[in-house]
Order: sequence, then C-alpha cells, then structure tokens
Amino acid sequence: MQQPRYAVIVALLIFALGLLIGFWKWGIGTTDTPKEGTYTAPIRNVLETISLPVPRVTGLQSVEKALSIRRSRRDFADTPLSLGNLSQMLWAAQGISDTETGGRTAPSAHSVYPIELYVMASNVSGLAPGIYHYAPDVHKLELLKEGATTEMESFLEVTPQPHPANAPATIFMAGNFLKPQEFFDSTSAIQVTLQESGHIGQNLYLQAEALGLATVVMGGFDAMNAATFIGAEEDETILYLVPVGNRK
Ligand SMILES: Cc1cc2nc3c(=O)[nH]c(=O)nc-3n(C[C@H](O)[C@H](O)[C@H](O)COP(=O)(O)O)c2cc1C
Repeated sequence: MQQPRYAVIVALLIFALGLLIGFWKWGIGTTDTPKEGTYTAPIRNVLETISLPVPRVTGLQSVEKALSIRRSRRDFADTPLSLGNLSQMLWAAQGISDTETGGRTAPSAHSVYPIELYVMASNVSGLAPGIYHYAPDVHKLELLKEGATTEMESFLEVTPQPHPANAPATIFMAGNFLKPQEFFDSTSAIQVTLQESGHIGQNLYLQAEALGLATVVMGGFDAMNAATFIGAEEDETILYLVPVGNRK
C-alpha cells in the first residue's frame, strides 16, 4: 500500500524540479520584473578630472522665447562645441542650483537623483576626445576613457535620423533604478527615473535654444550595447542619447 504513495511523492518532486528548472532557464516569472536591490554608490575609475567653466544663471533669451522656438535640431555644424556651452548644457541638465541643499536644475523624487550623465566628446574645444562622467557636486568632468569613436552603429537603431556621431558631443543619460528604492517599490522606482529623464531632456532642449545650439533627444538605440559603449555601471540603464553641437 505504501508504494503508490511514494510514487506520487516522487512524481510531484520531479514535477516541482521541472518547474524550478523552467523558471531558472527561461526566466519565467522574472521577465519584465523590475530588479530589486540596494543601491551602492559606484567607484568609477577616473583617469583625470576636468574643471568646467562656471555656469551662467542669466541669459539673453527668455524661457518663453526658448519654448516658442524649441525644435529637435539634427544638423550639426562641423565646428567644435565650446567647453563653456557643454558646461552650460550639463549644468542645465543636472547641475547644482542650490548649494545649501544640493538641489539641482531638474526635479527629483525625494531628491534621490537616480540619473547620471556621461559625455562622449569628439570635438569640444579645450577638451581631449574621450568618454567622461559628469560630477554635478563639483561641476567637473571625469575622464573615464581616452579617445572618441564614431562607431556608434553597434547600438544606434537604423532610422532616417542623423547619426549622433556627427555631433561634437553626445550626452548619455543613464538611470539607476535601484537608487529610488530607498523610498519606492521597484516598479515606482522605474517610473520616477523615467519621469526624471523627461525633465532633464526638456532642460537640455531649452538651454540649447537659449544658446543657439542644435540638440535632439534620441530613444532609438539598443540600451545594452549603448551601456557597454559608454562604460556605464552594472545597474545603470541608458535612457536617452542627446547629441549636442553648433547649428549648421
Ligand atoms: C521619447 C522620445 C524619443 C525620441 N527618439 C528620437 C530618436 O531616436 N531620433 C531622433 O532623431 N529623434 C527622436 N526624438 C525626437 C522626436 O522625433 C521629435 O521630438 C519630434 O519629431 C517632434 O519634433 P520637435 O521636437 O522638433 O517638436 C524622440 C523624442 C522623444 C520624446
């Protein structure tokens, strides 16, 4: 009488093992599940630190005017972007605007600031070509990799849109979805990070208009390959590419 019961138990165990293997192998139940975890501040391998010109807090163009003429501009002149203009763009995106509180130019849920900016600079006056990380607290660029490449085909989607490699600098917005989990569940952490990328993108557009530059926010790329290209940290996801340059 015992044998059939054992057979049932063994069959159930084999079935459960099969399910576990299925979950592990095909990621069933984990696909599309936001990653949960604790944020650890990355220690970047910085080759050199470059001070940026002090950002201006006044300009000749009103915000209303900038809004009324804002366009996605994809035609970049073959001239170097000035370091002052790159500095101004980075400050507009994520710069410190309140030194007492650490408040930045773009809002952030619980002031967590889950977005990091990287720059691939190929033609910026006074700046060696390379890949840089922007450090908002000190308003400096941190050189991560020397040399710029135009080989962005590895991650750009083929679209009729122009190649950001034509731009003298491209800003990569990288979101860390773990960082807001100090205050939010994993799904909301993704939500607020994506919302913040929109704020930063609009700041970049308006600052570009005020400076008479060309820029466009780009979502058409392979995020994994873009992260590898820029040397982003393991938990960072590339959300936007923003080429910047002088207008043609
Ligand atoms: C989420 C998002 C993704 C975008 N991706 C691209 C892109 O990959 N390439 C590009 O050239 N423009 C991209 N754009 C810019 C749009 O094409 C542009 O905003 C639209 O044509 C309207 O033109 P305007 O910005 O001049 O008003 C994107 C815009 C948004 C908001």
